[in-house]
Amino acid sequence: MAKNRIKGDTRIPQHIAIIMDGNGRWAKKRLMPRSFGHKMGMERMIGLMERAFDIGVPYITVYALSTENLKRPEAELNGLYDLIRNHFEKYMDRLCQKGVRLRVIGETHLLPQDVQEILRRSEKKTESYEGKGINIALCYGSRAELVRATNLAVERGEKVTEESLSSLLYTAGQPDPDLLIRTGKEVRLSNFLLWQAAYAELFFSNKMFPEFTDKDLEKAIVWFSGRARRFGKTDEQLAQ
Ligand code: IPE
Ligand code: IPE
Ligand code: MG
Repeated sequence: MAKNRIKGDTRIPQHIAIIMDGNGRWAKKRLMPRSFGHKMGMERMIGLMERAFDIGVPYITVYALSTENLKRPEAELNGLYDLIRNHFEKYMDRLCQKGVRLRVIGETHLLPQDVQEILRRSEKKTESYEGKGINIALCYGSRAELVRATNLAVERGEKVTEESLSSLLYTAGQPDPDLLIRTGKEVRLSNFLLWQAAYAELFFSNKMFPEFTDKDLEKAIVWFSGRARRFGKTDEQLAQ
């Protein structure tokens, strides 16, 4: 049964963050347009999220478009918006029917109006759900998120603490990502969850995102499970 394929003693991450990189190169290698890579990437993203929930991971954040990606050619961006227009709601309805709350995080006001409406409608359908969540990062940049949170604190006249700043981020109330996966051979964060991933285990894969399989996800989780997470302490302290 798919549900129990992962080893019983594996420590399951409470929040996986995924940088889905390599769609364009994957398509180019197959002499296909970048938009085809994005379509296959979107389908893979849905498959991976389903598998992650089956395994018991309660929170998943996916980096689907960065603020910096808005500098890409208009045709590529329009292709991405069309993917949202044609597929997003259907996919999210299927994923979220198991009680998963959807949040779209980022500067979504920069997206076309009709796309914003689709995203908002999907979010609304899930707003009463608690305990499990998907964050889709669209027009997201971590520095912008931190500036936004800081300005909110200033407006309230509050002295900032680590807890209060965390509570003003898009991910408020969620556990910090403990496993961050990036596909596509690059070894960088590209302005993703800089605050939240402070203690995440970082898993970099040479595979392009459309070819990152459920098995690869399971391998990443098993790898995560074997990491010693010290949070600054010594092994001896942890053993106590
Ligand atoms: C990631 O794939 C998805 C987005 C940024 C929208 P890329 O589009 O960056 O693919 P590569 O890195 O060019 O292969
Ligand atoms: C990061 O990928 C953003 C997303 C996956 C959405 P990029 O392809 O934009 O990252 P860089 O430009 O190579 O750092
Ligand atoms: Mg890329």
